[in-house]
Amino acid sequence: MTVIEVEDLSKSYGDTRAVDGVTFAVKRGETFGVLGHNGAGKTTTVECLVGLRRPDRGRVRVLGEDPARRRRAVARRMGVQLQEGELPDRMRVAEAMRVFATLYDRPGDWREVMERWDLGHLGGKAYGDLSGGQKQRLKLALALVGGPELVVLDELTTGLDPVARRETWTLIGDLKASGTTVVLVSHFMDEAEELCDRVAVFRRGRIAALGTPRELTGRTGTGSLEEAYLALAEERR
Ligand SMILES: Nc1ncnc2c1ncn2[C@@H]1O[C@H](COP(=O)(O)OP(=O)(O)OP(=O)(O)O)[C@@H](O)[C@H]1O
Ligand SMILES: [Mg+2]
Repeated sequence: MTVIEVEDLSKSYGDTRAVDGVTFAVKRGETFGVLGHNGAGKTTTVECLVGLRRPDRGRVRVLGEDPARRRRAVARRMGVQLQEGELPDRMRVAEAMRVFATLYDRPGDWREVMERWDLGHLGGKAYGDLSGGQKQRLKLALALVGGPELVVLDELTTGLDPVARRETWTLIGDLKASGTTVVLVSHFMDEAEELCDRVAVFRRGRIAALGTPRELTGRTGTGSLEEAYLALAEERR
């Protein structure tokens, strides 16, 4: 079953064509990587998927619904970690977890999710007093607390220390094993290669390449996704 369908999606901000005719589909249980240079249109695309922005053109379907029109229905089944998402500084970690759990139809046990993400000892701490990586971990935990069918993660591990990064990969592996569909925006090619079934390489608002990491390395005659990505970037200059 197809969980995400995007057809000819375009979105501009004034004169800036952020997304310019993008088409892709994500199947249930798939982990789909969204890669590309700064300003390539990755965040704009995922914001259209989660219903935060209305496309200028094209068709978007997420879990069978139009997220721009039926945002709440989609949001109850989807976990989102946004690049720019912030919480009130004075909100405490445990409070955030408890409140977010109530937004879903079938929430998981928020205390258990907190422990899994190594936030148990920070329950009483205010969001504004957390370190960058702790904030990032909390945002991830909040995206997962509702037991979502689909998770959208914009720069999953940016700001995490190397150990936390690896632990996060393991947890995403568990999510995959449980059949959850994942959309992962990333600048880390090792992460995309490890976690993603397929990746789309965005370039100036368009998809320059799409396939499994192995297909992209094969196509470019390279040995790793990082090398393939650099070769594609060079090709398109
Ligand atoms: N709110 C906005 N208003 C005006 N222009 C915007 C806005 N958000 C993004 N843009 C522009 O749209 C383009 C795409 O931005 P977007 O945030 O989608 O890129 P991105 O691929 O997520 O980049 P990054 O890797 O830096 O996060 C950029 O040129 C950016 O300057
Ligand atoms: Mg972005």
